[in-house]
Amino acid sequence: SLPMSEKIKLDEKDPVKVKLRKADGSGDKGTRVRVHGRVHRERKQKDVLFITLRDGYGFLQCVLTGDLARTYDALTLTRETSMEIFGEMWEVPAGAHAPDNRELHADYYIITRKGKAAGGEDAITNKVQAKGDVQTLLDLRHLTLRGEKVSAVMFVRDAVEFAFHQTYKEHRLRKVSPPALVQTQVEGGATLFKFDYYGEEAFLTQSSQLYLETCLPSMGDVYCIEKSFRAEKSLTRRHLSEYTHIEAELDYITFDNLLDHIERTVVRVLEITMSDPVIAAYIKEMNPEFQMPEMPFKRMKYSDAIEWLKEHNIPNEEGEPHKFGDDIAEAAERRMTDIINRPIFLTHFPVEIKAFYMQKDPNDTRVTESVDMLMPGVGEIVGGSMRMDDYDELMGAYEREGIDPEPYYWYTDQRKYGSSPHGGYGLGLERFLAWLCKQHTVRDCCLYPRYMGRCTP
Ligand code: 4AD
Repeated sequence: SLPMSEKIKLDEKDPVKVKLRKADGSGDKGTRVRVHGRVHRERKQKDVLFITLRDGYGFLQCVLTGDLARTYDALTLTRETSMEIFGEMWEVPAGAHAPDNRELHADYYIITRKGKAAGGEDAITNKVQAKGDVQTLLDLRHLTLRGEKVSAVMFVRDAVEFAFHQTYKEHRLRKVSPPALVQTQVEGGATLFKFDYYGEEAFLTQSSQLYLETCLPSMGDVYCIEKSFRAEKSLTRRHLSEYTHIEAELDYITFDNLLDHIERTVVRVLEITMSDPVIAAYIKEMNPEFQMPEMPFKRMKYSDAIEWLKEHNIPNEEGEPHKFGDDIAEAAERRMTDIINRPIFLTHFPVEIKAFYMQKDPNDTRVTESVDMLMPGVGEIVGGSMRMDDYDELMGAYEREGIDPEPYYWYTDQRKYGSSPHGGYGLGLERFLAWLCKQHTVRDCCLYPRYMGRCTP
């Protein structure tokens, strides 16, 4: 029924083993191939069995006809069964639809040893689709990850992480790998995970920042992509207990240099990510309105944000008008970001509501040279600042915050042996993805989310 002109020469003996899609997104039209994958979907039509095969690189419609469709295995085929199919790649006939506009006309197949997937009551479709409540789906995340929507975010995540590495290399940052087990806090005691370290108290790191700062004198500008841990005691759609923290630290810079670097990095990462046609297609599917943010990003001082919130009648957490000194809560921050509807650098937060290490603004010592980058739909994605470079000031900051300086001796030493104007930031990868892929929650932007009440699977 297909025009013979579509059919390319057979190589009976040695068909090439191929993935279901090449890196550039193209297929293998017109060749005889051998493919491996799992049954994503199957559909029987008269004497023809249509199988959509999935291998993590793509989807391929396979057409089994004649005796091939009549075997016991074909008649009892279950979803997720792992198999190998031989055949020729054809273009789909006009009017028909298949992934990448092609189909494999099978002449032989093998069910992979042990590859048969459970059927009946235990079939994956019964497990995953029938009971759709959020907690059950999270219990079954090892299976839901096989779905098209869930895995699309993971593909984008892989591309974004790679794009950060590439961008940092273009900017000549060196990658380092600071420890996860530490004895110092960075972002306040309230969210520390404590554990017993051979009889001593230790914590899971909240941020690698302090360690990155120690690398500047030897390595120049540095970055890391590591896990950070926060014992967040509230359940929100943007807080995880374990998240991937992309952090960079830059030496001999001004606060303006820092802001410029952050926006250039974000835009370059997006350019690299979108330059992959497969990834760009996933993003457009999930976030059809996606637009490359325009540079420069909007810059807004904290004090102006407080005024803005007052003018727009957005109250603080006590239900009262915002006033200078208030922590801008998640809900208010998001409403403001959604109304302004573009990336915002919110800068110059008061000393009292920010971390101990932040440099004060020389023009107004009530505030710090600090920045949060806010994105529509999610809110804060980046937190950064210039760092206190003066020894005495840092000692005063420990005291103000009630921090024992003793375990910080190595951090303090940076101010003793050749201090420098420097600063950096941390970006939450899951929040960045929630924004880019328009996901309701960061929980859908990591492989196996960890948050209060969940540490499984
Ligand atoms: O604003 P934060 O707490 O800043 C720091 O940790 C700095 N020491 C980073 C630095 O300057 N090197 O966190 C930075 C970012 C936030 O903007 C957010 O995107 C993410 O980390 N983040 C979380 N993401 C998911 N779950 C959580 N519980 C998060 N806490 C922070």
